[in-house]
Amino acid sequence: MLDPDAVNSMFARIARRYDVANRLLSGGVDVWWRHRLVKRVGRQNPSRVLDLATGSGDVAFALGKGLPATTAIIGMDFCQPMLDEAVIKQQSSGRFPNIAFQQGDGLALPLNDGTFDAVTVSFGLRNMADRHRALNEMRRVLQPGGRLFVLEFSQPYRWFRPFYYFYLKRLLPTIASVVTGDRGAYEYLCGSIEKYPGHVAMSEEIRRAGFSEVEVVRMTFGSVAMHIAKA
Ligand SMILES: C[S@@+](CC[C@H](N)C(=O)[O-])C[C@H]1O[C@@H](n2cnc3c(N)ncnc32)[C@H](O)[C@@H]1O
Repeated sequence: MLDPDAVNSMFARIARRYDVANRLLSGGVDVWWRHRLVKRVGRQNPSRVLDLATGSGDVAFALGKGLPATTAIIGMDFCQPMLDEAVIKQQSSGRFPNIAFQQGDGLALPLNDGTFDAVTVSFGLRNMADRHRALNEMRRVLQPGGRLFVLEFSQPYRWFRPFYYFYLKRLLPTIASVVTGDRGAYEYLCGSIEKYPGHVAMSEEIRRAGFSEVEVVRMTFGSVAMHIAKA
């Protein structure tokens, strides 16, 4: 099982270079993945949204741009240095007064039941020590009928796997060590992606946590999947 303290301090170490590394390692496709997420969230017309594992806030800001300014958005993460980066970006933009960044653990959310119409979690669930518990927490803070949106790495189409894992295991840690100076963090990232369930097993995990109407959108040859589910 993942050690939450180790995960927290790993993100604290890479927080200042997280955005640059993300853009570079994904070739900028991460912006498009988040854009698709925000478009789907927009269809729900939510008035209160939780972006869990918000990190340096890119999903929260994309939600802020894509949803009406009246939408209340909370960006929550358990790693304060990642949140500090989000707040710096918010302050320098002079925008997004409807976004509040708050520290909190996905396994024990400091939030009341039924508070949100939508919960997003982008590239965060994979890092949580107990996914079942985290998903249950997300369901608890959603209103009945509210929607969960999980954007996460997944197992790609079979033909794409050799190329993908070559990139992930051989190239990515080397590039990442140059950009972030922290090869270990990105070796962890590759390992966690390899062990992560494919989209069918993930859908089942989401159902087991009490969600219904689970839908999957696979992107970039299946290497990323967006799961949408009803609380
Ligand atoms: C890969 S980053 C993703 C950040 C952002 N959502 C994005 O798409 O760029 C994963 C984030 O999950 C956070 N995280 C991991 N476990 C967590 C937990 N139990 N509770 C809250 N945040 C957690 C980490 O601190 C980190 O900021």
